[in-house]
Amino acid sequence: MQTLLDVLNKTTRFFEEKGLENPRLNAELLFANVLECQRLDLYLQFERLMDEDTLASLRPLVLRRSRREPLQYILGETDFFNGLLKIDERALIPRPETEEMVELAIRKLTAPPDSILDLGTGSGAIAVALARHYANARVVAVDHSSKALELARENIRAAGLAERVKTIRSHWFDQVEGVFDLIISNPPYLSAEEWENTQPEVRLHEPCEALVAEDSGLACLNLIIDRAGDYLSPSGLIVLESGLDQHESLTARAAKAGYQKIESIKDLGGRNRFIVLESL
Ligand SMILES: C[S@@+](CC[C@H](N)C(=O)[O-])C[C@H]1O[C@@H](n2cnc3c(N)ncnc32)[C@H](O)[C@@H]1O
Repeated sequence: MQTLLDVLNKTTRFFEEKGLENPRLNAELLFANVLECQRLDLYLQFERLMDEDTLASLRPLVLRRSRREPLQYILGETDFFNGLLKIDERALIPRPETEEMVELAIRKLTAPPDSILDLGTGSGAIAVALARHYANARVVAVDHSSKALELARENIRAAGLAERVKTIRSHWFDQVEGVFDLIISNPPYLSAEEWENTQPEVRLHEPCEALVAEDSGLACLNLIIDRAGDYLSPSGLIVLESGLDQHESLTARAAKAGYQKIESIKDLGGRNRFIVLESL
């Protein structure tokens, strides 16, 4: 019988051959999932013998990862803003930049918002994070993908937030009513060419319509900038995530739409990533 360390080494080499980044870490996280322990606990069990049942549970997961399926889809969950979210191919995997955007919105808001609109909610990551943070806020989470909304509702229910977080299937603002103290969105913003150059994990497994927008990635952001003013409360705030090299065009668009205050904000990597807009 092989030891855990033998199988771990073999899996790491296999992942290396398949071109995965961080092959050892990926292998360890899959092993920890199957053995139902913390990753670091594996180090205390290197001599453990791997029985056939355990290997049988491990093999399909290793195969899926070797085909470049993202780890989060295989594990079925991901961390987001101090909470655990269910995640699968119905929606995009929430990214660290989006956690930064949630932090930015919280920093910029001068008072707790009564109402929040999350446009393009996907897994519900932003809506759930903000509803948890603002215990009295009413949140509307919009997406045009019914599959993504199904997953968002599962996450909203699991967080015990179904009373305050409502989901709406809509093409951006089309089915949205009322005004909001915070409008927040991480819309699709990649150009078709940028998408072609993404890692296989993204290109082969994440929903393309969650990532790619027309007009070199600007179409959804432009639409949101043009229309969000009509849905903003008088002292409300709009916070948007964008692609790189889009800020000159987006801030010009916002100025043309008549926003009083327009800020372009960098992410932790020092790249222009977020746009904050205030009142028309
Ligand atoms: C980049 S993903 C963001 C998902 C999630 N908010 C996050 O940050 O992880 C963009 C989301 O916008 C949604 N979307 C794309 N086009 C849309 C449209 N026309 N109306 C509403 N939602 C749309 C996609 O289905 C996807 O869930």
